[in-house]
Amino acid sequence: MRCYVRLMHRDDILQVTEIDREAFPTLWPPANYQHELNNRLAHYIVACDEEKRVGAPSVKAIPEKRHSGLVSRVRRLFNYDRFLGNEPPSSAREYIVGFAGFWIMADEAHITNIAVRNIHRRQGIGELLLIALVELAAKLDARIITLEVRASNIAAQSLYSKYGFTQVGLRRGYYTDDKEDGVIMSTPDISAATFQACLRQLKQAHSKKWGIALCEVAS
Ligand SMILES: CC(C)(COP(=O)(O)OP(=O)(O)OC[C@H]1O[C@@H](n2cnc3c(N)ncnc32)[C@H](O)[C@@H]1OP(=O)(O)O)[C@@H](O)C(=O)NCCC(=O)NCCS
Repeated sequence: MRCYVRLMHRDDILQVTEIDREAFPTLWPPANYQHELNNRLAHYIVACDEEKRVGAPSVKAIPEKRHSGLVSRVRRLFNYDRFLGNEPPSSAREYIVGFAGFWIMADEAHITNIAVRNIHRRQGIGELLLIALVELAAKLDARIITLEVRASNIAAQSLYSKYGFTQVGLRRGYYTDDKEDGVIMSTPDISAATFQACLRQLKQAHSKKWGIALCEVAS
């Protein structure tokens, strides 16, 4: 499958929630992506199948909250709404195969989620999303990327390790549903030349293996 990555829009929420529920069935309450798209710290991306289309979403995009004159001028100046995915997408019918996101806090990007539809796993999509997240974090001037992952989640830990994340801590009983431990992982400085060189190599290898050339994440 050929796919591309872009920022998440409101019209994606239905499909993203579906993928979230499939990937994290026991997590309660479910993540609220409507809320996340309003959160200025949060940045979410989706991977879409280049060829497949689905029916128009059945949820209506929620109107944007009104901002005061100064705030809306600043948002316009930096094209903030477009960057956050608050503008309507050109096509509302793309088929989303996976999504990922992080919160930026100071110089740290904290990955909140990464998930691929079950039927599309092991086809390089999770890796594509991680590459895009790392590049987006670097563009937003993050220095490190961190996350928590279930101790039993070998697939995700292996993906993160491939991209230079190492275990830096353990939160005992972190997951509320079953009290499983959370492994804290972190990258080294992502702006360092050594990290960037590794990223380039991994990206090239991924592109060669899967035939997907990742462009800069489009809005
Ligand atoms: C983790 C996840 C996003 C990986 O997505 P994916 O598209 O299947 O992964 P890819 O095909 O891009 O694989 C990339 C790398 O991930 C690792 N990986 C993926 N699936 C794996 C598995 N089942 N076992 C071991 N390693 C695995 C490997 O290192 C792989 O690199 P390789 O191909 O060189 O071996 C996917 O399994 C998923 O959605 N899981 C449920 C949600 C989740 O647990 N998210 C993590 C929350 S912290």
